[in-house]
Amino acid sequence: MVRTSALPASSTHDNNALIAVLGAGAIGQLMYHKLSVNTQEAQVNEVILIGRDKQTRHQQLRFIDHTQHTHEALATILGTDDNRLARVELLFVCVKAYQVEQALLPLLPKLSPQCHIVLLHNGLGPHLPVAAALMRYKDMGLTLGTTSQAALKLSPWQVKYSGLGVTQLGHYCGSVMSAALKTCLTRLHSDNQPIEWHQPVLPVLWQKLAINAVINPLTALNQCANGQLAATEYQSQISAIIDELVEVAKYDGIILDKAAVKARVYQVIELTSANFSSMYQDVAHSRPTEINEINGYICQQAKALHLNVPNNQYLVDKVLQLSKS
Ligand code: PAF
Repeated sequence: MVRTSALPASSTHDNNALIAVLGAGAIGQLMYHKLSVNTQEAQVNEVILIGRDKQTRHQQLRFIDHTQHTHEALATILGTDDNRLARVELLFVCVKAYQVEQALLPLLPKLSPQCHIVLLHNGLGPHLPVAAALMRYKDMGLTLGTTSQAALKLSPWQVKYSGLGVTQLGHYCGSVMSAALKTCLTRLHSDNQPIEWHQPVLPVLWQKLAINAVINPLTALNQCANGQLAATEYQSQISAIIDELVEVAKYDGIILDKAAVKARVYQVIELTSANFSSMYQDVAHSRPTEINEINGYICQQAKALHLNVPNNQYLVDKVLQLSKS
């Protein structure tokens, strides 16, 4: 199927709201393709990517869905100087956690004053400076989320679906997302993959943090696929990481059920057993990792609460050493 979705330089739809995705990694491109799908419920909005360059350009994208069908799209990659940024009403931020502040904050004054921002990354922490920055934009709002839908980047502009999953979202601060924008998100539902709305959203993100705090550093340090963490040799280390996380979350006002968190971690280990985690891949490709926003966030919160988290601190130190070497 060939679909053309480039935004013409002088668009005839100048009054239409734009949906934008910032970050063209595997998840960013997956979101772009899913948001571009027309559904009966959602009206058609233009979907674009936002690039790093000042100039706008077009790029042919290819997406292989879970039924192995290939979809093609000519995407508009809006430049950071393009005044059509002022029409962006919904922005999905899919860059790595450590890139969020640098990529997003300079864009805020250029977006529609009513723009709603959705952060979708591993780890926690970037929501704090973003929320602080949004205090200056009274009509904007912030939703936080996580997705277990998975995608694999086969080449820079070719992405393959690699796992069905759920997308969990919840309001964090500022204006709440309008009903019209929420309707646009029903497109993420396509292929029967649920969207769940959670209020408050932070407990869900701490639950996801536990999954990443176990799987990501352990697979990176032991150079193994996710499934290998089910071996008995990792049991006590996994328990210790989770015990510390649950304690820090509790002092931070988030009550997590330790047994349920552990069960979910082992379930994800099993469901993604053949996958190599994002941190494994970052280390293998000598890229920066999200360790500071995963186990590092637990350590940072623990420090502020005067709690000791030696197991999480050990993982931060080891992964940082690994990515330096
Ligand atoms: O970062 C990752 O790789 C993923 O979030 C997860 C769930 C750990 C699966 O590999």
